[in-house]
Amino acid sequence: MPTLATVVDGLRLPNPFVIASGPPGTNRNVIARAFREGWGAVVAKTVSLDASKVVNVSPRYARLHAGNGEVIGWENIELISDRPFGHWLDEFRALKDEFPDRVLIASVMEEYRKDAWMEIVGRCEETGVDGFELNFSCPHGLPERKMGSAMGQNPEILREVCGWVREATKRPVWAKMTPNITHIEDPSRAALAGGATGISAINTLRSILSVNLETLRPEPTVEGYSTPGGYSSKAVKPVALRMVAELAAMIRDEFPGRTLSGIGGIESGRDAAEFLLLGADTVQVCTGVMKHGYGCVARMQEELLAFMERHGFETLGDFRGRSLPYLTTHAELVRLQAARKAADREADAARGVRSDTDWTGDEFVRQSDALSRG
Ligand SMILES: Cc1cc2nc3c(=O)[nH]c(=O)nc-3n(C[C@H](O)[C@H](O)[C@H](O)COP(=O)(O)O)c2cc1C
Repeated sequence: MPTLATVVDGLRLPNPFVIASGPPGTNRNVIARAFREGWGAVVAKTVSLDASKVVNVSPRYARLHAGNGEVIGWENIELISDRPFGHWLDEFRALKDEFPDRVLIASVMEEYRKDAWMEIVGRCEETGVDGFELNFSCPHGLPERKMGSAMGQNPEILREVCGWVREATKRPVWAKMTPNITHIEDPSRAALAGGATGISAINTLRSILSVNLETLRPEPTVEGYSTPGGYSSKAVKPVALRMVAELAAMIRDEFPGRTLSGIGGIESGRDAAEFLLLGADTVQVCTGVMKHGYGCVARMQEELLAFMERHGFETLGDFRGRSLPYLTTHAELVRLQAARKAADREADAARGVRSDTDWTGDEFVRQSDALSRG
């Protein structure tokens, strides 16, 4: 029987399924619920020292539905936690008392001041949390205060802030990165060079979900106006997979031993397997929990185990990063295909048949007609 148990940055997880920072980790009650349902670890909702500066609006969600009604895209303009920091410290302490063996990670965000980062990390650490995720990636609201993704897009600042945090704690530190950048490796490299032990990716994609064709207002609409928000759920998975693969290759080549937590549109054990195959050590789920409830982790574990059994993998290490070598350049695809076609032609000639493997325009039209007929 394969095992899902894993050790990441010295943290022992019963399985790689981690609650991502957001509504599913927004207070002590729901975090306790996640542990009871069997989640491998929880990253709590992001906290800051002064919650009075965090003012949420409503509505703050808007959803994109597929033809069958399923939610496949989710935009939010929710900020980090608006609950007082002191309450959070009490709750972290209580959670570690109640679940001493379970992994609780504090997600923190602060302004660009060394004393603020040292204080928030130091005070969280005293509660017994197992590690930190640094939120350098929230794409709405906080960047207006030069926080979140405003920091995450600036490698120099990242390196410096990660250095401060490294000074403040010996526990694992994951830098959570924004996808709203051309090369996610650049700021991630700076975070690792500064002292982060791992990278989490991705946070949400900056987005406008839709425009209401009756009112002409973009959505979600607050008092008649909107602001670009963060996009998540199934629709972002292809972008997340690409960025995780890029990060995994960078970590393999430049920072061996550092870790990677994959996030974005994960809702099943099969999704998780894809992220692990591209080099993630753990997978995080936010919108999937909001859609399906905490209990989905049981199904996800079963699906991942079934995948492992089918391939004869005993541990996550047996297949982590296995699909990375199959990614290459387009030029290499051209070379491989030309070589294969030449070999086919040679084989056909040897058998005395005429080979014609090239796609013609007619063939493309036939195939797209067939697709549109379903
Ligand atoms: C409503 C909502 C609130 C979120 N709040 C936070 C947050 O406080 N801190 C953070 O690092 N990420 C936050 N996220 C981002 C998620 O942790 C995650 O990176 C992103 O949604 C992509 O994963 P998913 O498709 O599984 O939701 C939030 C996401 C949503 C949908």
